Amino acid sequence: MKRLFLFFCVGLLFNTESNATTNVLDGQAIFIRNCSVCHSVNPPPKSAPPIVPLASHYHLRFQTKAEGVNHLVGYLQSPDKRNAIDSRAIARFGLMPASPLSAVELKAVAEWVWDQYNPAMGRGRGFGGQGAGRRRMNP
Ligand code: HEC
Repeated sequence: MKRLFLFFCVGLLFNTESNATTNVLDGQAIFIRNCSVCHSVNPPPKSAPPIVPLASHYHLRFQTKAEGVNHLVGYLQSPDKRNAIDSRAIARFGLMPASPLSAVELKAVAEWVWDQYNPAMGRGRGFGGQGAGRRRMNP
């Protein structure tokens, strides 16, 4: 009986934790499955710009998470040079192919990308290694 109670508590703990960091879908899992072939999270790049610097661009360009996520979902559905956050990335890596994921999955992964913003990255070179641990979440 005691064991069962413990089980229940652990379950509850995990539940609240996953609710706090993800919504319904796990953006990070979606990223690993669908995006990490091309994108690394931190520099050096694979065949596309790394996510943490991209998240910095998004935080500079957009005031709110909702706006940033909205733009990114649109970009993932139809990448377009005119909408790119950094047109130099296209010159260097080529245009990203449109994602076949559903709008709900794209929103989850876009929210995860937004949350990868690492304020230390903005202060210049040499901070690249810091992003490896848990990053602070942005509201
Ligand atoms: C086949 C390789 C490939 C895959 C898969 C891929 N990307 Fe990209 N992505 C790129 C390249 C190349 C660029 C840079 C050129 C551009 O912006 O189109 C890019 C650009 C981006 C940008 C910058 C967009 C902007 O506003 O300019 C973001 C953010 C991004 N990718 C996120 C993702 C996410 C999230 C996924 C998974 C759902 C994903 N990418 C899948 C290759 C890829």
